[in-house]
Amino acid sequence: MKVTKAVIPAAGLGTRFLPATRALPKNLLPVIDRPIIQYAVEELVRAGISEVWIVISKGQEALVEHFRSSPELESALEAKGKVDLLAELKAIQQLAAVDYVYQDEPHGLGHAVACARDQIGDEPFAALLPDELFDPKENFLGRMVEVFDESGQAVVAVHDVPGDDIRLYGAIDPVDPSADVMEVKGVVEKPDPAEAPSHLSLSGRYVLGSDVFDILDDLPRGAGNEIQLADALGVLGGQGRLKAIRYEGKRWDVGKKEGFLEATVALAIDRDDVGPGFRQFLASLGTK
Ligand code: UTP
Repeated sequence: MKVTKAVIPAAGLGTRFLPATRALPKNLLPVIDRPIIQYAVEELVRAGISEVWIVISKGQEALVEHFRSSPELESALEAKGKVDLLAELKAIQQLAAVDYVYQDEPHGLGHAVACARDQIGDEPFAALLPDELFDPKENFLGRMVEVFDESGQAVVAVHDVPGDDIRLYGAIDPVDPSADVMEVKGVVEKPDPAEAPSHLSLSGRYVLGSDVFDILDDLPRGAGNEIQLADALGVLGGQGRLKAIRYEGKRWDVGKKEGFLEATVALAIDRDDVGPGFRQFLASLGTK
């Protein structure tokens, strides 16, 4: 079965960005002029995915409104002759079919993914954490979908984490960490660095079969008393049904302030419109 559906968990509280996230969902914060959630949907579209389910909590409906048509705004832009902006707005609506499901309480990432069970049905799907922003020039998820198609097994993206920082993430236990496509024996969420099975962390990109929902249903609560997606992946790994590929491109954790600032600067200097002036500005700071 082809992977055409995706789940974006976005129902978390975004506490690290308070007070900005008091009324505004974290994934609507803009990196330059696009909200974080739009980068996520564009990445899914690059990978050939056309049906996107965003998992939200009550009050976060604006995350989906962003992808719907807005007749008043469109007529206003038309009347002002702002054709480029109008075209950009329409392009956003045509990206993919975007809709939402609710997660009533933030019981963890695994629980958030399971909230979209009825919408995914028995099809394979991608899950993508929007606050892990991957280089918009890449299509790594497309590569993951290819590996899923070839192997028939769940596929996760991983990246190298230096030093003890692995304690903050989900670490995989690979059979051969140097393989292009690694077989994974297990996954440990937030390991003690001394016992971490590797320094390869889950990167927030997953291509999964619908069998993961039964595994999630049976899971006890894990780290942080939450239903952890990493624990479900650990079960798949234990059964010899999980692959990992290493992402070596640029990525930013825009769920924290430093990563958000770094993404904004890195993407801004690359843009044709604001890039040249912004590079000059940054150079001028260097001389002070
Ligand atoms: P994070 O832990 O990075 O996001 O979860 P958060 O909870 O919103 O932010 P902080 O830690 O309070 O600052 C990664 C992604 O998973 C979603 C989040 O919305 C985010 O997009 N998530 C997390 C859920 O949808 N439900 C959950 O129960 C937990």
